Amino acid sequence: MNPNVGVVVMAAGKGARMFSESPKVLRAILGEPMLWYVYDQLEQQFAGRIHTVIGFRAGEVEAAFPGQAGRFVLQEPQLGTGHALQCAWKHVVNAGYEYVLVINGDTPLVPAALYAELTERALAAKADLACVTLTLAQRNAFGRVLRHPDGSVAAVIEAKDYDAKLHGKNAGEVNAGIYLFKTESIGPLLDRLTNDNKSHEYYVTDLIGLAVSGRLTAAAYNFGDAPELMGVNSPLDLAGAEELLRRRIVADWREQGVIVRQADSVRIGPKAAIAPGVEITGPAEIYGETRIAAGVIVASHTVLRDCAIAEGARIDNFSHCDGSLVGPGCTVGPYGRLRPGSVLERGAHVGNFVEVKKSVLHAGVKANHLSYLGDAEIGAGTNIGAGTITCNYDGKSKHKTAIGERVFIGSNTALVAPVSVGDDALVAAGSTITKDVAPGALAFGRARQETRPRRKIKP
Ligand code: UD1
Ligand code: CA
Repeated sequence: MNPNVGVVVMAAGKGARMFSESPKVLRAILGEPMLWYVYDQLEQQFAGRIHTVIGFRAGEVEAAFPGQAGRFVLQEPQLGTGHALQCAWKHVVNAGYEYVLVINGDTPLVPAALYAELTERALAAKADLACVTLTLAQRNAFGRVLRHPDGSVAAVIEAKDYDAKLHGKNAGEVNAGIYLFKTESIGPLLDRLTNDNKSHEYYVTDLIGLAVSGRLTAAAYNFGDAPELMGVNSPLDLAGAEELLRRRIVADWREQGVIVRQADSVRIGPKAAIAPGVEITGPAEIYGETRIAAGVIVASHTVLRDCAIAEGARIDNFSHCDGSLVGPGCTVGPYGRLRPGSVLERGAHVGNFVEVKKSVLHAGVKANHLSYLGDAEIGAGTNIGAGTITCNYDGKSKHKTAIGERVFIGSNTALVAPVSVGDDALVAAGSTITKDVAPGALAFGRARQETRPRRKIKP
C-alpha cells in the first residue's frame, strides 16, 4: 500500500520571538538556513510533492530555494497556522493527495524516519488525523495536548488559551507541530476554523478538537522529550538546535575516522565531506560544500567555506578560505586568506598575511608573506616576494595581472593592472610596474638610490 502523500510546510511567519528582520526559517544553523534541513529530510520521500507556505519576506525565502520553485504558496496576510493550511489547500486538492503531511517550517531537526513512522502508524490505525506529541518538563509556549480518560486525544489548546480550570490538568504533553491529515476527511473542517482565541489567529491545532467532535478517527503519538522535534522560536532555541546538530555531526565524522581535536569547538556544516584520517583541531569552522581529501591538516582557528582541499594540503592556523580550490600538497597560512575564485595548484604556498582573490596560482608558486594577489594568474614555479601587491582596481573597474612561469617578483612590488610579466623575468624589489615586462627581462621600476657624503655635524 503506497498512498499518495503530499506535504505542506508552514513557513510564512515572521518569527517575532527571534528579534530579527530576516524570516525565521532563513536563520542559519551551521551555515544552512533552517528550512534547508526540513527539505533535506523531506526530499528523500516526498520530492516534487512539497508545498511551502510563505509570507513574511516571501521573496527572500523563495530565492533561497530555487529547487522548490513553482510550489510556493503565498499567505498574505499571515493569520495563523490554520489560515496557512487554508491557503495551501487548493494545491493539495488539485494534486490529488490522499493524505497531507503538514509541518511547521521552524522544526529543522526532525528526521525523515519520523515522517515515515507517523504516516505508517496513522495509516495502520486508519486515522483521519494524526499528530506528534512530546512530553516536556518545560511546556513553554507549546500547545497543550488534552486526552480523554481512555487516553485518546481530545484536543490541542494553545498555551495562551489554556486554562487548567476549563481544560483540566495537562500532564506535560505538548504538540510538536507535525500532522498527517486525510484530505477528504479534514478538508471540510478547514472552513470551520475560527480566530475566536487570545491571539485572534486561525489555529491548525483546532482541527484536532473539530475532528474529535466530528467523530473522525484522531491519533496523537507521543515521542517523549525527543529534542530534535522541538520548534525553534527564540535565539536560545536556535543555539540549542545548532549545538545538538553540531555535536552529532562532529561525532559522526569521528566515527568515520576523522581526527577531531578540541571537538567542542569544531563546527562542521551538514554538506561537508571529509576523508578518513584528516586532522582537524578546534576551534575550526567548516561550512558549505567543503570537501577535504585524505591527509589534509586543518589547524586551529581556521574557517573554510565552500572549498575543495586536495590530498596532503595543510591549512595552517588562523586561515580563512572561501570558495577556493587548494591543490595537493599546498600550504595556506598561518594567517592566509583565500577569497572566492582562488585556485592553488599542486604544491603552491600562500603564507602569512597573504590575501588571494579570484586568482590562479599554478604549481609550486610561492607567495609567503604579506601580499595581495587579486584577479591574477601566476605561472608555475614563480616566487612572489614579500609585500607584493596587485593593484587590480582603478576606482571603477577590476583589471588582470598575468605573471609567467619561473618569475621572480622582488619584495614590495606594486603591479599596476592590467599588466603582464613574461616567463623567467625578474622584477627588482620595490618596483612599481605599470608596463608589461617581456619574458626573460629584468625590470626596475624604482628611483635609483643616491648616496652622498653627510654634512659635517658640529660637535
Ligand atoms: C505551533 C503550534 C503549537 C505547537 C508548536 C510546536 C499552532 C497554532 N500552534 O506553535 O501547538 O506546540 O507549533 O512547535 O499551530 N506560520 C505560517 N503562517 C502563519 C503563522 C505561522 O506559515 O500565519 C508558520 C511559521 O512560520 C512557523 C509555523 O507556522 O514555521 C509555526 O508557527 P509558530 O508561530 O512558530 O507557532 P508556535 O507558536 O510555535
Ligand atoms: Ca514555532
